[in-house]
Amino acid sequence: MDVSAKAKKWTEVQGVIISLFEDNLELKTPEINKMIKHLEKSGKFSGKEGEVYTFTQEVEGNIEDIVLLGLGKEEDINLEKIKVNLSKAYKKMKELKNDDIIVRMIETENLDLKEMAKAMTISLMLSDYEFDKYKSDKKEEQKDVFVSISCAKLNDSMIEEVEEYIIEGKDIAEGVTIARNLVNEPANEMYPEVLADEAKILGNKFGFEVDIFGREKIEELGMEAFMSVAKGSSKEPKLIVMRYFGDKHNKKDVLGLVGKGLTYDSGGYSIKPTASMDTMKSDMGGAAAVIGAMATIAKRNLRMNVIAVVAACENMISGNAYKPGDIIGSMAGKTIEVLNTDAEGRLTLADAVTYIIRKEKVNEVIEMATLTGAALVALGETTTAVITNDEELYKELEGVSEYTGEKVWKLPTFPEYRELIKSDIADIKNIGGRNAGTITAGLFIEEFVDDGVSFLHLDIAGTAWTDSAKPYKVKGGTGVPVNSIYELAKGRENL
Ligand code: BES
Ligand code: ZN
Ligand code: ZN
Repeated sequence: MDVSAKAKKWTEVQGVIISLFEDNLELKTPEINKMIKHLEKSGKFSGKEGEVYTFTQEVEGNIEDIVLLGLGKEEDINLEKIKVNLSKAYKKMKELKNDDIIVRMIETENLDLKEMAKAMTISLMLSDYEFDKYKSDKKEEQKDVFVSISCAKLNDSMIEEVEEYIIEGKDIAEGVTIARNLVNEPANEMYPEVLADEAKILGNKFGFEVDIFGREKIEELGMEAFMSVAKGSSKEPKLIVMRYFGDKHNKKDVLGLVGKGLTYDSGGYSIKPTASMDTMKSDMGGAAAVIGAMATIAKRNLRMNVIAVVAACENMISGNAYKPGDIIGSMAGKTIEVLNTDAEGRLTLADAVTYIIRKEKVNEVIEMATLTGAALVALGETTTAVITNDEELYKELEGVSEYTGEKVWKLPTFPEYRELIKSDIADIKNIGGRNAGTITAGLFIEEFVDDGVSFLHLDIAGTAWTDSAKPYKVKGGTGVPVNSIYELAKGRENL
């Protein structure tokens, strides 16, 4: 898909999407206005949020489809509503096989035109996403779609500025698409070595360094918790370290990112039921998000520094696998009683967090992981659960999340919850019982965060994957929270 702000005439295109508020169904184009008035009178279109109405008309010999899109009340409009609803109208355009279209921006004082163009670009590009590389009978080769985002108010100098925002939107959608593709790859194709190689390829393409460490180095670093999870698989684990220095004069300020990279989670000896196993190729959703965010950050040349770490492995069963009851060590030196081999993510993340703090010297860590089924039970596919030791950092995340539409919610961390992961015979245990599973999982990882380091844990078990199509998301990997991580990094720019 190509999106631009290049002005196009209605007579040149196959379709036009027109957005309207229910409390202002007025358009400056008289012929269309007449049509809208008629549709309103006959009760066919009223501008309510999400309403889509299509008709075909002839303009100076050119026949085109007009898709009217309702956005609800003007006072309630926000960028996420634009994204969600535009996705519905775009779907209609695609059904009608139109690949050269104009999308009119709504005129309102409530939103900045440039921001709106950026949001619309993200929505359109992600609505166009499909993962069909394994289909032998791919629906006829997808044709390139040309979209011109326009608005009556745009003059030439504004077009240039809007174009800049559209490019930023494309770069964000590209990062999200990278994450979706990585998640959607099946585990027989996407194992630790492949994930590491992909990171390397993307590093070369977008401009970030990638170091890959294998079993020997991981053992040498003392990452015993990570190795314990990895050792049941015949696939070699990989520690992937990505570094981007966009602000070389200020190397003290480095944002640390950590992503859970279980390329497959069978549960190990605490084996999962069959029905919960087929989607476990997505247990590297955190790693995928971190890699996608690195791509966008580097592509945008942000003036800031970021280091990202992924401890990639598979959780499998074999004569060499770890077992419930084992007591294992960790890079930080803490001993861990393993009471459930399916609570493996926190073990790999404990060592990844220790590594990024002690070896890469970051003093701020944002870690994201498809960590607990309990997050899905509590917040559904809509909202990412957050555990933090730094209220200010959480507020920052909340701010970007309101902007990107990737919802987050903070869970409590009262001392009582910490009690639940105390072990009788080791320093800590890897499960806290049936209750408060998302909290105890996050707090387990926090135990490995050294004093003075800010920590934000995002449990994306519900949000990184969707079982059904949603606006600008298809079934499968969603790419959440790439957009928010990029915006948070952008907020850190040293300008
Ligand atoms: N990868 C799973 C969590 C998960 C579940 C992600 C559903 C996406 C969808 C994780 O490793 C896991 O199995 N967690 C256990 C923890 C329990 C044993 C304490 C869970 O949630 O059941
Ligand atoms: Zn598990
Ligand atoms: Zn897992």
